[in-house]
Amino acid sequence: MSNNNSPIGVFDSGVGGISVLREMVKIMPKERFIFFGDSANAPYGVRPVEEIKELTFSNVKKLLEMDSKAIVVACNTATSAAVRDLRNTYEDLPIVGIEPALKPATHMFPEGRIAVMATPMTIKQQKFKSLMERFREDAEVIPVPCPGLMDYVESGELEGERLERYLRDVLCIHLGETYDGIVLGCTHYPFILKTLRKVVGDKPVIFDGAEGTAREIKRRIELIGLSATEDFEGDQVTFITTDTHPDSKIELMNMLFNV
Ligand code: DGL
Repeated sequence: MSNNNSPIGVFDSGVGGISVLREMVKIMPKERFIFFGDSANAPYGVRPVEEIKELTFSNVKKLLEMDSKAIVVACNTATSAAVRDLRNTYEDLPIVGIEPALKPATHMFPEGRIAVMATPMTIKQQKFKSLMERFREDAEVIPVPCPGLMDYVESGELEGERLERYLRDVLCIHLGETYDGIVLGCTHYPFILKTLRKVVGDKPVIFDGAEGTAREIKRRIELIGLSATEDFEGDQVTFITTDTHPDSKIELMNMLFNV
């Protein structure tokens, strides 16, 4: 049975969710975390919705077996496909899922041009369509599906000509497209921020939902009196992966956690 000093369980299809984890660690230094990266089944973003649901439920089950007191879905794709069903199944469990940060972007640029980079699956889902519908009046929202972009991060390729070309192509920079804001709608993308900046220049403001998600899970566990009461012993984060090469994947996870 979990209690105040049990860990917060966090998962993603791979290493991307570490961009959310590092924000949580910053604002909750007393909490312990288990980070589960399902790299063996990645990418989720090109799979049918039923498969993503199954994988999501199995990830949550695993984290609960490891005594998690709350769950953070650090994957926009899994949130859009499965968070509603998860909440219906685990009614009493605090569950927070990351979503593309469209709200702050459209608020900052009323009538501006906002690109939302995300997996093809996230963009296809009803949840994203409803989100777009809510903010459509405020700004021009341009969904940019990025199949394959997460693979660059999974393999640790965070810069270089090949990645720059990919980004120029999906964002149509070569056709003269410009944006006021760019929303990173996949948790893998913050890790290629430097290269993205190089491609789009200084002008667009880049939005990432990680910080908001961290604040929300903190608020939720405080609200129900579930914050840690004791200092933890040992490591603050336990990394787990389903990758077929777990050692090198854990090394990459540690590297990304510390950038
Ligand atoms: N990191 C994931 C997200 O936030 C998805 C990457 C994938 O598995 O396609 O959407």
